[in-house]
Amino acid sequence: MRLDKFICQSTEFSKNQASELLSAGVVAVNAQIICDGSTQVHENNTITLNGSVLTPRAFRYIMLHKPAGTICSNVDEHYPSVFNYVHIAYPNDLHIVGRLDADTTGLVLMTDDGRWSYGITHPDKHCPKVYRVGLSRPIADDVATKFTMGIALQGESQLTLPASLTLLSPKDVLLTITQGKFHQVKRMFAAVGNRVVALHRESIGSVQLDITEGQWRYLSETEVQSLQATTTQTTTLNTTTQTTTT
Ligand code: URA
Repeated sequence: MRLDKFICQSTEFSKNQASELLSAGVVAVNAQIICDGSTQVHENNTITLNGSVLTPRAFRYIMLHKPAGTICSNVDEHYPSVFNYVHIAYPNDLHIVGRLDADTTGLVLMTDDGRWSYGITHPDKHCPKVYRVGLSRPIADDVATKFTMGIALQGESQLTLPASLTLLSPKDVLLTITQGKFHQVKRMFAAVGNRVVALHRESIGSVQLDITEGQWRYLSETEVQSLQATTTQTTTLNTTTQTTTT
């Protein structure tokens, strides 16, 4: 983490105030005065401000049931930001772990732990996400096979990774994908001649949405750990697969 961010996460100071403190030469890392806020610091460094050791606040891990007509951004734009639903201290420290479109509903994760979110969103981690999808026309028989084989999305040179489809009714399916490309679900169905008319994220890894629209809650310790485990395990599996197929 950057030193200026560490100061903000350990105190009440804003980023500008942290910069002023750094310039004033009152911040030390392992007893050495540091003035550059971009210096990377780690949990085993001792960081002091005017001689007092700084301890960062505990990380927060949050689930929100995103309503339609809201955006996954820290600020309101065309639509209100999802952050309007989460009333906690230091909201600006939080970021969204895998955005949803404005018209998509369902599970959104938020945290201030960048390493944890990296493990979930990084393309190499292949964390599974389940979407309930409403379609404009009945799904064709060959779509499940096409999605398993990989789909050529417009403007992409590589096929999508294998995705699995469960039919709930002719126009209503569950889709599990392990990537997070821009508008991926909508583009996958467009590529097979269909159109998404409703999209809802039900789960990420083993974390299942279980609250009503507009509500939020902290994740349990087990949920936080399980997502870490999902991504670590999947990475190992994928590495193994690549090794054996190349
Ligand atoms: N895929 C999409 O097309 N939209 C979303 O919001 C999420 C996944």
